[in-house]
Amino acid sequence: MHVTHLSLADFRSYARVEVPLDPGVTAFVGANGQGKTNLVEAVGYLATLGSHRVSSDAPLVRMGADRAVIRAAVTQGERSQLVELELNPGKANRARINRSSQVRPRDVLGIVRTVLFAPEDLALVKGDPGERRRFLDELVTARSPRMAGVRSDYERVLKQRNTLLKSAAMARRHGGRSMDLSTLDVWDQHLGRVGAELLAQRLDLIATLQPLADKAYADVAPGGGPVMLEYRSSVGTEVEHARTREELYAQLIAALAEVRKQEIERGVTLVGPHRDDLVLGLRGMPAKGYASHGESWSYALALRLASYDLLRSEGNEPVLVLDDVFAELDARRRERLAELVAQGEQVLVTAAVDDDVPGVLAGTRYAVSAGEVDRL
Ligand SMILES: Nc1ncnc2c1ncn2[C@@H]1O[C@H](COP(=O)(O)OP(=O)(O)O)[C@@H](O)[C@H]1O
Ligand SMILES: [Mg+2]
Repeated sequence: MHVTHLSLADFRSYARVEVPLDPGVTAFVGANGQGKTNLVEAVGYLATLGSHRVSSDAPLVRMGADRAVIRAAVTQGERSQLVELELNPGKANRARINRSSQVRPRDVLGIVRTVLFAPEDLALVKGDPGERRRFLDELVTARSPRMAGVRSDYERVLKQRNTLLKSAAMARRHGGRSMDLSTLDVWDQHLGRVGAELLAQRLDLIATLQPLADKAYADVAPGGGPVMLEYRSSVGTEVEHARTREELYAQLIAALAEVRKQEIERGVTLVGPHRDDLVLGLRGMPAKGYASHGESWSYALALRLASYDLLRSEGNEPVLVLDDVFAELDARRRERLAELVAQGEQVLVTAAVDDDVPGVLAGTRYAVSAGEVDRL
């Protein structure tokens, strides 16, 4: 798929901007702070319903405005669609497809797919487990948009189960009546059912991504690997050997039973996909804490390139976004990366200076300056 037109209203620094887009490579060039990343951030938002830079919507709305609109015309094969999201911080966001009546925001997932690499991705390697869970879950959702529903079900069940555990912990502390544990059993089953589905999808993703990540790392940093992706689950080491969702369900239920006493003491759910991590191994060591800055950067890029490969190979050609990537690479790697991605259906690149964009990425150039986006 590719985006043929992007239109923003009160998004970040843009009061209004209209950007027609071609398939192939488009580069946005301009000095720092001019609004290049803001443009690609908007495209990424359509694909994930979130920003790669901030966790809340408020900073995405232009200072002084009370809502932002992102609109994109998208072509997939013969089919064209118009997607529109209205961001209302503090209130529910709204979505429309083809100007018709409203749909839930998550119904737009799958229309725009992106793989976005940005300097912030260093946190994938160096940051907390939550960064890597988000990476996995966003990719799981890009493969299969219905997983957005599973993820939000999981969040909801987890929240309600935690509320229940908290009140049990309170009652216990104040010597009150102990809780009716059959209610908790019911929530265990909900958590087990939805959690097993999420676990199954993550495990399948990691198995598929592993060889692609190893290959991508070898492309980005020849001779620097191998890389090994390893899922570390709070549920236990046996999740890797589970062959069916029923087995994962059984393991999750057993793990919950094992920690129930602690959970009631602490008032929080201690096992489940929300407590898991993806360990990024590099030459037999975890990259986090061991890898150099350059290796961490290469690793993050390799994960994104592997994601791109994976979605393409499954017939979900995404838009590849490379935000400020080329300045970080030496000339040889720059050319290498450019060759790898030059054949993509649509590639959006940002760079501070034109010279950073490799010659093989010939395509449309836009100058971005003080909120103006002009075709060169
Ligand atoms: N909500 C907002 N309202 C107004 N301006 C914003 C908002 N969020 C960010 N900006 C401005 O956008 C600019 C950064 O744009 P960005 O796209 O990140 O720049 P770059 O071209 O370096 O990628 C900054 O000058 C910042 O002040
Ligand atoms: Mg930028």
